[in-house]
Amino acid sequence: MIASAPGKAILFGEHSVVYGKHAVVSAINLRCYAKAEKSREIRIVSNFGTTSLDFKGFHAYISYAIKRFREIKPISGVEIQVKSQIPPASGLGSSSATTVSVLHAMNAEFEAGLSKDEIFELAKRVELDVQGIGSGTDPFISTFGGCWVLPEKKRFDTKLEFSVINSGKPSVTAEMVRKVRMLKERYPEIINPILDSMDSIALSGFHALEKNDLSKVSELFKINQSLLRALGVSTPEIDEIVAEVEKKGHSAKITGAGGGGCLLTTGEGDMRIKLSSEGVRLEDHEVWNSV
Ligand code: MEV
Repeated sequence: MIASAPGKAILFGEHSVVYGKHAVVSAINLRCYAKAEKSREIRIVSNFGTTSLDFKGFHAYISYAIKRFREIKPISGVEIQVKSQIPPASGLGSSSATTVSVLHAMNAEFEAGLSKDEIFELAKRVELDVQGIGSGTDPFISTFGGCWVLPEKKRFDTKLEFSVINSGKPSVTAEMVRKVRMLKERYPEIINPILDSMDSIALSGFHALEKNDLSKVSELFKINQSLLRALGVSTPEIDEIVAEVEKKGHSAKITGAGGGGCLLTTGEGDMRIKLSSEGVRLEDHEVWNSV
């Protein structure tokens, strides 16, 4: 069986969401496609190569997804093939889209009867297995699709569109989340107010997005980016890109964990993205062959 799940863009609230603050997040029109087929052994095939279970390598998320699925439905083997449109380690939710699409394809192939809520819970577990830390935001969006304000799980719509700029360096989520946590432990009286400000930005950002108010969103992107920089998750390369974008009268901010990865911009970028795409779903062979 074949399934696909969308990547995501965090419009406001990366990092602060880990501490229970608001985040505004959307599924995007780039997807990961996974095929699961019954087999005697375990085989994982992707652009990165072919492996068996590979908990420490580039198939870590898929390996843990298989492990967690087997705890629910014991199976002797499976062949998983993955094709993704989402650049890896870019902050656009490639890992969670992979995990969720693999779990959904296995659910269908082995008739496990898991609901979307259960798939989300398993994917969140896998995120913690691999990263050791995480808010569950990415697996939530890959499972359910759409635009959301978290933690309320309030769904909304916006007509605004954005572009992404790839900073060219990979973004390693676990490393960045740990970095912020250490800073917060060292300077709670400084970092906590920053996280509170990010919370207010996310709430104002949500209202601006709902009203399709691009100039307010742009202003809030600028403030949010400055605070992400204060948390230590920007880089000199990202700061340069932001400065270039601002010179042209637009704004840009990190989306996702930072330290590299992609920026969201109100100006021109490498790629235009559409928000609010559909969540995880089954696909047919024609779609698979065309990816
Ligand atoms: C990563 O896409 C978003 C972070 O807030 C981490 C998380 O929420 O788990 C940096």
